[in-house]
Amino acid sequence: MRILVTGGAGYIGSHACVELLESGHEVIVIDNLSNSKEMSLSRVKEITGHDIKFYTLDLLDKVKLNQLFSDHSIDSVIHFAGLKSVAESIVNPLAYYRNNVSGSVNLFDVMTKHNVKNLVFSSSATVYGLTDSLPLKENCPLSAENPYGRTKIMIEEILRDLHDSDNAWNIISLRYFNPVGAHASGRIGEDPSGIPNNLLPYISQVAIGKLKQLTVYGNDYATHDGTCIRDYVHVVDLAKGHISAIEKLDSHPGLVIYNLGTGNGYSVMDMLGSFERANNIAIPYTIGPRRPGDIDASYTDPGLAMSELGWQANLGIEDFCRDAWRWQQDNPNGYE
Ligand code: NAD
Ligand code: UFG
Repeated sequence: MRILVTGGAGYIGSHACVELLESGHEVIVIDNLSNSKEMSLSRVKEITGHDIKFYTLDLLDKVKLNQLFSDHSIDSVIHFAGLKSVAESIVNPLAYYRNNVSGSVNLFDVMTKHNVKNLVFSSSATVYGLTDSLPLKENCPLSAENPYGRTKIMIEEILRDLHDSDNAWNIISLRYFNPVGAHASGRIGEDPSGIPNNLLPYISQVAIGKLKQLTVYGNDYATHDGTCIRDYVHVVDLAKGHISAIEKLDSHPGLVIYNLGTGNGYSVMDMLGSFERANNIAIPYTIGPRRPGDIDASYTDPGLAMSELGWQANLGIEDFCRDAWRWQQDNPNGYE
């Protein structure tokens, strides 16, 4: 199939491109490179030995987007493009609504016009908000705590309305839990700009000496060691989930939503200890205050993705830590 990947130069998108190409799909990537480098796609070509068509294109540029759909016959779209920083979305909410919501509406509009009605959308576990109903299932109530999370809920709702208006649409929203790790080749991985917000990139930068120590945000949560629990999922497993979703679109599923996680919850201290053991390296850390907005624990029941998509995560905590560290060591300055 010929698949358009929006945001394909980014962290999850580049890993998905590898899996798509290795599964025999043809890939066209559009990205405005606002949070990525084109080099990620050169690396994808190097890993797979396959070519990718790439266009620097902003989803807000509807004229160019329309032209792209006129120039290429596209079977399905995987929509990763979006801004993803919770903190930034609180400071600059309009940028998030404009980019994520308006950009998505432009995309769906152009897809409608060109009769392309197969879509996989990157949603997030953030749509479950501050819940304590664990493990999280797809039918748990939604509540967003910040503008970023609200953009994901809004886009999911727009997609529901779109499907209600026209049953020819086949839409799969994938709610990712915490993506971590990197491709086993060490050639593609997460390349955060500035100081990382996320745990594993932060630990990796401490390990390589770019940052002095990890601050563990709170150790008084109601968990086995007092630190927050998350459902970390290897980015390559996540990427493979998109292959399963693309294949599922063939069965005309209508509108469906799947949580993608392992179902295992690990605490901050579990991750820290595992990184130290897997890579034989000591990580200095200190215990700091809680980070506003963090919840005690978040992990999924992966049963629905398993039964309906035939997808299940295969990689575990040692793989997360080993692969993140390989990527960091081989690319101390990311794609620079
Ligand atoms: P990323 O920032 O690495 O990738 C997103 C890509 O989209 C970037 O390459 C960026 O340049 C591009 N982009 C942004 N706005 C665009 C626009 N208007 N037009 C064209 N391109 C645009 O992020 P990621 O971690 O790969 O995340 C991919 C998707 O998954 C996002 O939608 C994100 O919200 C979602 N998600 C990510 C996480 C996570 O922790 N990484 C968790 C849940 C959901
Ligand atoms: N943490 C630290 N120190 C750090 C960074 C993180 O202790 O320097 C802790 C956090 O307090 C949290 C855990 O590590 O308890 C995980 O934090 P991350 O920032 O890595 O991940 P979050 O669960 O906060 O959020 C991530 C994405 C969100 C997304 C969410 C659910 O950043 O965008 O997963 O998918 F919505």
